[in-house]
Amino acid sequence: MAYSVPKLTDWSADSLDKAVAALRAALAEETKSVKTEADWKALRDRWMARKNGVLTQINDLWLKAAPKDAKREVGRRVNEIKSFVEEAIANAESLKSGVVPAPEIDITLPGNRRKLGAEHPVIKTMNEIVGVFRNLGYSVEEGPEIETDYYNFEALNFPPNHPARDTQDTLVIANQQNKPLRDRLLLRTHTSPVQIRTMEKQRPPVRVVCPGKVHRNDAPDATHSPIFHQVEGLAVDTNITFCDLKGTLDHAMKALFGSSVKTRFYPSFFPFTEPSADVQISCIFCGGKGQRDGGPCRNCKASGWIELLGCGMVDPNVFGFVDYDAKKVSGFAFGMGVERIAILKYGVDDIQLFFNGDVRFLEQFG
Ligand code: DAH
Repeated sequence: MAYSVPKLTDWSADSLDKAVAALRAALAEETKSVKTEADWKALRDRWMARKNGVLTQINDLWLKAAPKDAKREVGRRVNEIKSFVEEAIANAESLKSGVVPAPEIDITLPGNRRKLGAEHPVIKTMNEIVGVFRNLGYSVEEGPEIETDYYNFEALNFPPNHPARDTQDTLVIANQQNKPLRDRLLLRTHTSPVQIRTMEKQRPPVRVVCPGKVHRNDAPDATHSPIFHQVEGLAVDTNITFCDLKGTLDHAMKALFGSSVKTRFYPSFFPFTEPSADVQISCIFCGGKGQRDGGPCRNCKASGWIELLGCGMVDPNVFGFVDYDAKKVSGFAFGMGVERIAILKYGVDDIQLFFNGDVRFLEQFG
């Protein structure tokens, strides 16, 4: 039963103590039953509301009504009552539900680890290729992705209007017509211009690899992308021969694809090398047999060989552009597509997967 403030007629200390004790008991009883926010608010208002709350009533019915000679005693007790009522009601607040208890901390749980990003498979492959040549003593050079016609073509022995230019479908920068052809800007179609830039600033001997992004006006499909990556290589010194080229690339292919891989050099043409060759490796899917699972190997079209990169002996005309003496030095160069190598290494069937940014694909390389 809710407490109601009695009128006092007996103002003796004894009687006052009894009244206070009864109030305390009632307060204790009422705070115990607080369960919800609404319960607590009702309790607080019943006891502390300025208008007609229990404390206000006590002020009126006990203190104001007390005869003069009892006022001191009553006043002391009323003050006491005020402070313990306030305290009891403040304490009761924590009984109501909805107050979130402090979380228990389980210090044995593993910490929250932030997921580390993974190297993109193209960058990973590019670093791997560069690593193979670094181990052979090559240094690394980079060049601009926006090149001049001179570095991308002319100095690499593609004269203006030469049909070899048609093999690289070039993206050109707009509004360059007023410039002489050699100064016009384009997106480099290969990393070979870095060969020229390197030889311009360095005398032989030269051993460099040049990794980087290249662009061609190719519509995207499973095997083409308008952006892709290459690693270029160049070695110039006295007495560099085709044998050095063969030995170097044979070693590199074994380092990348395993020591059982064989290489073969197939005659080809590039304006900046003479002679030129395409390098083929024995098919890593059928072991070079051309047959797999009782049928023709699809990866090498049953030939047992997969074409992987271009190479050759640096054309003397190229040395002429960089003021190297072709009578004293010779060199070899090669260029390989990074995506092509990554596709073979990881068994990827669509080059677009490298560029779509689908995390489910990329996570497999983490
Ligand atoms: N630049 C050639 C291409 O993009 C690849 C290449 C072939 C680079 C032969 C070379 C090389 O340095 O010697 O198709």
